Amino acid sequence: MKIIRSIKEMVKFSQDNRRKAKSIGFVPTMGALHQGHLSLIRQARKENDIVVVSIFVNPAQFSPGEDFRQYPRDLKRDAGLCRQEGVDYIFYPDAGQMYPAGYRTYVTVDKLSDVLCGKSRPGHFKGVATVVTKLFNIVNPDAAYFGQKDAQQAIIIKRMASDLNMPLKIKVMPTVRAKDGLALSSRNVYLGKQERKDALVLCGALKAAAHLVKAGARDPAKVIKKIRQIIRAKKAVKIDYISIVDLDKLEPVKRISVSCLLVLAVRVGKTRLIDNVVIK
Ligand code: PAJ
Repeated sequence: MKIIRSIKEMVKFSQDNRRKAKSIGFVPTMGALHQGHLSLIRQARKENDIVVVSIFVNPAQFSPGEDFRQYPRDLKRDAGLCRQEGVDYIFYPDAGQMYPAGYRTYVTVDKLSDVLCGKSRPGHFKGVATVVTKLFNIVNPDAAYFGQKDAQQAIIIKRMASDLNMPLKIKVMPTVRAKDGLALSSRNVYLGKQERKDALVLCGALKAAAHLVKAGARDPAKVIKKIRQIIRAKKAVKIDYISIVDLDKLEPVKRISVSCLLVLAVRVGKTRLIDNVVIK
């Protein structure tokens, strides 16, 4: 496994591999790897000749006052995990290379970026879409792997790849959870012991909602009210949003009928957590 820090070098390795007709599977990450990331890497390993994992804590997707500085960074540990999973290249650029002085170009995915997490984190998805576009251009993969855990992100990336005719497949893999149900996230390390317990209310509420729908509930307002009640019972958990939206435009549905997405974001202490479930 090779760790590549230079964009030029990464482009050259990708070009060499493509010339040899080797397929490239790509997993973009911000590091602090956990089983959620590893599930994407394993899928990429299964489906491609070459696997590239990028590790880059992207400053463009953090707002001032967010956790850019504290975000966990441990290249040695991440590299060990990647090696175990048979990754061929870790692409590990620095911010100065990705956004040199005079950098001016950004990618925005209209409307989809302004709702849900985009509303609470203005500019976040512009930063994500921009860095993912840059990474796609550098790595030139046949397929890129994303997690359902960040449902809005996955929908935005799919839209962007389709709208801009990017010549690759976007694959979305299921959310990996801890045994007790909490969705794995690099940010879970911020949680104190009690906060970690309180955070379980997220998947508990989603389960309860899915159950309600299974039992016949069709009015999104009623389902959302129930979730709100469950979450409010935990005083330390503050709701950012709870919404039931369609899978295409991310607009609130009037009635739960075809496939839709129940998404929520909360704050547990200082930590922002998100989770979702697709309701069928
Ligand atoms: P990061 O949070 O490191 O996540 C990298 C990828 O892992 C994303 O596609 C995310 O959805 C996926 N992932 C995270 N937790 C998961 C879980 N519990 N189960 C399954 N997949 C999971 O998302 C980002 O980084 C960044 O925004 C990035 C796309 C790299 C752009 O900077």
